[in-house]
Amino acid sequence: MPSVTSLHSGATPATATRPPVADGAAVQFAGVGKNFSGNWALKQVSFDVPQGQVVVLLGSSGSGKSTLLRHVDGFENPTTGQIWVHGQLVNGLKNTPLRKLRSQIGFIFQRFELVGPLSALENVLTGASARIRGPRLGAWTYPKALRNEAMEQLERVGLAQFAAQRTDTLSGGQLQRVAIARALMQHPSILLADEPVSSLDPESSHEVMTLIREIAARDGLTVLCSLHQVELALSWGDRIVGLRQGEVVLDTPTELVTKDQVLPLYQRPAPDAPDALTLPNTEFTFASPPPTPELVLGLSL
Ligand SMILES: Nc1ncnc2c1ncn2[C@@H]1O[C@H](COP(=O)(O)OP(=O)(O)OP(=O)(O)O)[C@@H](O)[C@H]1O
Ligand SMILES: [Mg+2]
Repeated sequence: MPSVTSLHSGATPATATRPPVADGAAVQFAGVGKNFSGNWALKQVSFDVPQGQVVVLLGSSGSGKSTLLRHVDGFENPTTGQIWVHGQLVNGLKNTPLRKLRSQIGFIFQRFELVGPLSALENVLTGASARIRGPRLGAWTYPKALRNEAMEQLERVGLAQFAAQRTDTLSGGQLQRVAIARALMQHPSILLADEPVSSLDPESSHEVMTLIREIAARDGLTVLCSLHQVELALSWGDRIVGLRQGEVVLDTPTELVTKDQVLPLYQRPAPDAPDALTLPNTEFTFASPPPTPELVLGLSL
């Protein structure tokens, strides 16, 4: 992994016109760095995601997971390097090309980002806004074909019977299913999910993650998903990409990941305890051998 001092020196110029590797990758990060007010949130991030792969981003709070996801659909512009989506350079996209890019990318958020007073059906319909002209008020103002399609998406996520219900009366698990259905209305090829189950109980989390996985497999979606639940991540994704202070420090197929590789993701340098471990509120449990007293002391976050 690059040291802090070697960062950014190898970044490809932002004027590059071709992706750095051959076809087949849905998303490519090439030397991506992001500086916010003098602080590097991402440092020299480079990896490719093949179409159809399900990638989990792991890392402690502030490690850069959300920032990385936000670069994929152009919500952030990198300070160094490039992001390519299906071979198209994302850096600096604006207006119509940016809207076109975003129409291919569904985004699911921790806090759902739904409109509470609207029905579940209407929230799902807003996912089709790139396909229609002008604002709509009320599900009935959308073309019938779209209403039927939105109902189908609600059926896919098991919520057809809640179509007419106000969204702010649904449970957390149901809300995230509505958000998934809305994302699917975009006909995305890529799904970004930023801690999609962090505000759900373990059972709802499991159901929602299973649903995302099933839909991704059926529709051939590429998924990039940040998670804090380490055990869930290890049982769910194809590949784990671990970030630490903005750097990729782990990139491996899920079946090969060991706990020894994951724990350092949550290791933060502290002046008086350089080896102390801090973990977020995860479901991670320790298999044998049992943790050392030093390790337990470090789990105080
Ligand atoms: N718009 C911004 N302006 C300034 N700093 C930012 C901005 N967005 C993110 N950062 C900083 O970038 C770093 C990475 O933040 P980011 O939100 O990507 O972390 P994260 O891994 O998603 O954390 P969490 O697990 O808590 O969601 C943090 O230090 C954060 O304060
Ligand atoms: Mg985040």
